[in-house]
Amino acid sequence: MQAELICFEQACRARYAITDVLYNCPKCGGLLEATYAFAHDAADLKKLWRERRMSNARLDQSGVWRYREFFPFLKDLEHVVTLREGNTPVLDAPRAARYAGLERVAFKHQGYNPTGSFKDNGMTCGASQAMALGMTRVACVSTGNTSASMAAYASAAGLQPIIFIPHGNISYGKLAQALEYGAKTLQVEANFDQILALIRVLAERLGIYLLNSINPFRIEGQKSIMVELMDQRDWQAPDWVVLPGGNLGNTSAFGKALREMKALGLIDKLPKLAVVQAEGSAPFFDFMSRPERGVFPAVEHPETLATAIKIGDPVSWPKALLEVTTTEGVVEKVTEQEIADAKAQIGLCGIGCEPASAATLAGIRKLTAAGVIDKSADVVAVLTGNVLKDPDYIYKYHTGQLKAPGGSAILSTYGNEPVVVPNDADRIAALLG
Ligand code: F0G
Repeated sequence: MQAELICFEQACRARYAITDVLYNCPKCGGLLEATYAFAHDAADLKKLWRERRMSNARLDQSGVWRYREFFPFLKDLEHVVTLREGNTPVLDAPRAARYAGLERVAFKHQGYNPTGSFKDNGMTCGASQAMALGMTRVACVSTGNTSASMAAYASAAGLQPIIFIPHGNISYGKLAQALEYGAKTLQVEANFDQILALIRVLAERLGIYLLNSINPFRIEGQKSIMVELMDQRDWQAPDWVVLPGGNLGNTSAFGKALREMKALGLIDKLPKLAVVQAEGSAPFFDFMSRPERGVFPAVEHPETLATAIKIGDPVSWPKALLEVTTTEGVVEKVTEQEIADAKAQIGLCGIGCEPASAATLAGIRKLTAAGVIDKSADVVAVLTGNVLKDPDYIYKYHTGQLKAPGGSAILSTYGNEPVVVPNDADRIAALLG
């Protein structure tokens, strides 16, 4: 299987060896992607991938590497670093559907991953490529989940993880993971976008391998989220796939996966992608809403309590533009209050997620009310992170202490405050009724 890197810019399309350490096209500066000469029969692949679910082999137990024919960039599979990522459930959520005005909705919950977010799907591939290239140190800037994931995979592989995080802007749950998994942790007095520029210089100078989603192998791994979803649905594509948008790596990965699955004959239609951003951090929404697109309108000081998607200048926007356009999808933005309430509703389904993930349900509600999503549509929302990633946010919401970035109060519409009671059976019984 011939695998290469190719420049994403249609006017360039320069090709490079799959083993070149590149993050942008040396000729034109464009984004890079992996490309393959696929020659598979769809029915054979479906059968093979289903059979592997019965296997105890290391790679077959991974919900990413089980689908390895779909991203054959490694010559030698002995380099694979796996923590048995993927294998995440698709959960029906009738209560959330009612909240959003839909007849039904399902959540593909990536928070069930080893480090609690969808980043593990990509990181297993990025870390494996680092091993194949003989790297010793890996780095990323992160709003918290990429760093938690990279720290785990790098340490599992014996690589040194170095993470850069915007000081004071990530949740303790995520920071704690990075420390526990042994990452050298640098808190920088700058925002995500500024730090990404900084580490690109450092990676070059020090020969460190970059594992942000600009790394094409991360994107290859994240494709598995869509493949696993379709496999779980017996290859029936839904009408909509809804996801939060930050740096737009996931949007790029999902779109690429859907196009490639369609080309291979694994699915017969493309679901529409709906990307949801937080209002204070919504450059892609702004860009897609303008009739004349022009220059990408980066947000200099992005703001949102959904810190995972607090990104003003998403690197993968050119890819995301293609994917949203190809699938005839949409981009929506939602307020802090809408995210917080939608998150509480996902919690009431017994499912739970972190704030950024809840942007999906808030977005679906808006899009259904506007008639963009039909109420009988078959909708899958991807919950990107685990409920325990940001407990501070949850406690504040339920106790009426959550404040939006500008300082205005967020209503605890579905608040559930703990009650302090005396050690007295009669009084507690009276309270419980
Ligand atoms: N949801 C969660 C929980 C995330 O952690 C992220 C991104 C996103 C959504 C947005 O995904 O960037 O592919 O559009 N988190 C990154 C990080 C940026 O550093 O952990 P995207």
